Amino acid sequence: MTCFFKRTIAAKLGRTLHQPDDVFIPALSAVPVFKKQQTSDFRLTISILRTNGVLPASGDIQTQTEHLANQLKRDSVVEEIAAGSAGINFKINRKLLAQKILEPFGTEHQGKIGLHSELLNSLQKGTTLVEYSSPNIAKKFHAGHLRSTIIGNFIANLRESLGNKVIRMNFLGDWGMQFGLLGAGFSQFGSQEKLAENPLQHLYEVYVKVNKEAEHNEDTTLAARNFFRRLERHESRAVSLWQQFRNITVSEYRRVYERLGVHFDVYSGESCHQEGVREAVQQLRNRGLLKTTEKGTAIVDLSAGDLSNVCTVLRSDGTSLYITRDIAAAIDRREKYHFDEMIYVTDKSQTHHFQQLFQILRAMGHSWADRCHHVPFGLVQGMKTRTGEVVFLEDLLDEARARMLHNMSQSKMTKEMDDAEDTAQKVGISALIAQDFRGLLQGDYKFDWDKMLQAQGDTGVFLQYTHARLCSLIQKNNDIDTATFDPSLLTEQSSVSILQHLLRYDEVLYQSAQDLQPKHLLNFLLKLCHLTASAHRELPVKGSAQQVAQARKRLFSGTCSVLANGMRILGIIPVDKM
Ligand code: ARG
Repeated sequence: MTCFFKRTIAAKLGRTLHQPDDVFIPALSAVPVFKKQQTSDFRLTISILRTNGVLPASGDIQTQTEHLANQLKRDSVVEEIAAGSAGINFKINRKLLAQKILEPFGTEHQGKIGLHSELLNSLQKGTTLVEYSSPNIAKKFHAGHLRSTIIGNFIANLRESLGNKVIRMNFLGDWGMQFGLLGAGFSQFGSQEKLAENPLQHLYEVYVKVNKEAEHNEDTTLAARNFFRRLERHESRAVSLWQQFRNITVSEYRRVYERLGVHFDVYSGESCHQEGVREAVQQLRNRGLLKTTEKGTAIVDLSAGDLSNVCTVLRSDGTSLYITRDIAAAIDRREKYHFDEMIYVTDKSQTHHFQQLFQILRAMGHSWADRCHHVPFGLVQGMKTRTGEVVFLEDLLDEARARMLHNMSQSKMTKEMDDAEDTAQKVGISALIAQDFRGLLQGDYKFDWDKMLQAQGDTGVFLQYTHARLCSLIQKNNDIDTATFDPSLLTEQSSVSILQHLLRYDEVLYQSAQDLQPKHLLNFLLKLCHLTASAHRELPVKGSAQQVAQARKRLFSGTCSVLANGMRILGIIPVDKM
């Protein structure tokens, strides 16, 4: 949407300064819209040109800006050029602005709207493996797992929509001593009926009970150790019980993730790398990276004398640790999927773990470790349902749906719907996601049902409400054909503000693609919703003259497409009615 204008301005600069047009593109950006205030459309940032060596870095920057602004000629595309404090501001002919921005909405495949700009095409394309969610079997699904799930899903959606091949991976905590406990505990506290009835709940109960028991009962601890040993030796009865726990857990999670709108291409897990662990340890040994301590553990020394940077990879009994399994898993993934980039999404307490992991991989000669990234996020305080602390993802989704259903039944605005439960679920989940994506991911936040579910204000409900309203407007005016329209009829401030805001879409996606923060895109969409609310009031479609109605409907349809596409990237499924 922006390419045409940026190219035109760059050509003008190139002619004036006798330089190739391309050098000006990085310094040009769409100007953010401020409430009710008239702004220009594009800005050229002089300091960027000075840093890039396009303009001399010496001399007074303001004088330089004014001098250049005076040299540039206005024309039928760029109507105003003015030096400002931050650079040179350009105002585009209003008719052309509307025409060019709304053009793609009549032709291009709607799902790809705004995703093919020159800026976005400049991003590297390749295969991205995103690992997210990764809960532990029989344990709690906590707020950290929820955050990992929705953030990872966003990153995968973003990369995919920008033309990358994406592998979505769930890396289950499905190995380790906890399965000794669970296996041993199941013969004491477990029941196949309960397991069939409510698998996750039952596994969790057994796990909690056996842990308590093990605190004071030596026999339980011994039985657990014994069971895990049988597992590690692949003894068939132990393995088949473990396999049953795993299968049941995966199929339950699949069902719940589907409610959330999340899916995975691969359900991997710590259990999948037992052979790989042995090989990885051998490689470490061959490279002389492994040291055996007095206690009999095996360590990798990652520092030149700094004791804090020693990483244990084998216990004294020869069993592997979390990091050992991650080393093996990373190598295996690279061999299997040939990823160009791998992204791990976990809370920030694991930052050190991933630093060590990448460091060890590099020391082993795997230069691709430079293309592995950890995306850390902060803590959520107070994630609770009516019945207390959240243990299962499903309870959280039930609560979001129930609360939203209640709010919808209280509101006079709510429309008749075929499936109110489904709508309430989608909107409730949008609320969870928007609450989570408002700030920088590293930040902590307080979970607040009332706040996130507000219909007004910057919430997921507001996004959905705006989308539904736009759909209804389009629906109500389905007799108006927008295949052609007169762009000169969109010159009111509220139209222009939306158009100007749409100009920023690709820059916002670009920014999110760079730093993997969803807040840029979320805030962009929320702003679009606020601008839409004003436009809704000020630019009626019904009852306006045919040509005016046509142009306005085209504007609202375009807005609706961008909103829907942006929401989908965030992992929010837009509803048409609410
Ligand atoms: N299962 C782990 C947990 O719940 C998260 C796994 C993260 N991924 C990894 N490759 N280490 O903390």
